Amino acid sequence: MAEYTLKVRRFQPEATDEDKRGAYWDNFDVELDPTLSVLDGLLQARDGEDGSLAVRCSCRAAICGSCGVKINGQSTLACKTQIGEAAEEAERKADGESTTSETGKPEIVIEPMGNMPVIKDLVVDMESTHWEKYRRVTPWLMPSGPPPEREYIVSAEAMVDVTQSVACIQCGSCVSACLSMEADPDFIGPAALAKAYRFVGDPRDGQTTERLYDLANDQHGIYDCTHCFSCIDACPKGVAPMNQIMRLRRLAGHDHDIQDVNNGRNHELAFVKNIEKKGTLDESLLLQESFAPGIKGKLLPTIRSMKGLIESIPTAIRGIRTGKMRSVPKLIPGVHHKLPGDAQDHVKRIYDKTEESRIELNLYVIGEGGEEEGAPGAEGVRAEDITAAAQAEEVTPS
Ligand code: SF4
Ligand code: SF4
Ligand code: FES
Repeated sequence: MAEYTLKVRRFQPEATDEDKRGAYWDNFDVELDPTLSVLDGLLQARDGEDGSLAVRCSCRAAICGSCGVKINGQSTLACKTQIGEAAEEAERKADGESTTSETGKPEIVIEPMGNMPVIKDLVVDMESTHWEKYRRVTPWLMPSGPPPEREYIVSAEAMVDVTQSVACIQCGSCVSACLSMEADPDFIGPAALAKAYRFVGDPRDGQTTERLYDLANDQHGIYDCTHCFSCIDACPKGVAPMNQIMRLRRLAGHDHDIQDVNNGRNHELAFVKNIEKKGTLDESLLLQESFAPGIKGKLLPTIRSMKGLIESIPTAIRGIRTGKMRSVPKLIPGVHHKLPGDAQDHVKRIYDKTEESRIELNLYVIGEGGEEEGAPGAEGVRAEDITAAAQAEEVTPS
């Protein structure tokens, strides 16, 4: 047994005490085995110290998805986080300073999930953010044609690709961690988009193109993700929502050739071209290529592209002011930093190699380093009869 201090962010809407109006912090000292969970600590605090402490939980086994919280700033499940490890993490973060308790021990900081309104203490309103967005992606199968006489038969190989998104337990940790959602609360978000891939990738679904068209053209859809990886870090089940979003983009832009109104596809292509030509990002060229590819040469930009380019002028000015946009061709002499030596040739060779063939491996199923079991957090998913070859999908670079 060991002693721990839980520093809990609280909000009691019904509180009448002056000092409990609005959000405040409360400390609870608990004593339990380091291998037990942070949720066990919270329940001990609730049972022994303050019965009004609100925390949502059910299975206590990382299955139901109820106990999402932030622990030491990281969105995760309280029942899946060992309290001993959380204390070590708190110690690393505190670095002997502000977050130590009166006893000198580091406090494990527990807060409600982000990007969702708080109802009470650690309980958030998942309906208004998570579930509403989830329904937005039509999370059910829409097969075309009359149903078969018996069940739909799908090969194991065909289902491998959606196994990862099927593993989602709707805990909302990724939504809590999403940086794009902080900037744009209307962003459909990682959990709902991972679920969208679950149906887009299902061979039984008959609305693949319609789904992709919808998600690509929504201003808050697949191109609203900024690749920050936070949802991958937060997900306790190894769903890697960002990867599912990238698969949706690849299918929409490359395989289905959807030219979205958000210019997301062109922006992606501009990134690829920019790095191939320059090695590092040239923001001024990126803007031009994103909105008006070919403006210098053969192709005439569309009216929509020109409008997008003009609307981006304030962003460009901010970029120049902050030094992010390091060269504006023809306006300011180019100062774009080139890669040293023959590094650019190496970049080009990587591109050439990638053009030849790219293998997309579903690491969730086959495991890294050829292990048979799934990636961390992928409990219950086994390779078994599915060969690595069956899971490797050749895709053309986008
Ligand atoms: S990678 Fe995209 S979806 Fe995931 S947290 Fe970052 S912005 Fe959100
Ligand atoms: S994708 Fe992962 S983090 Fe997001 S809701 Fe599903 S299980 Fe939770
Ligand atoms: S209590 Fe069910 S996932 Fe934590």
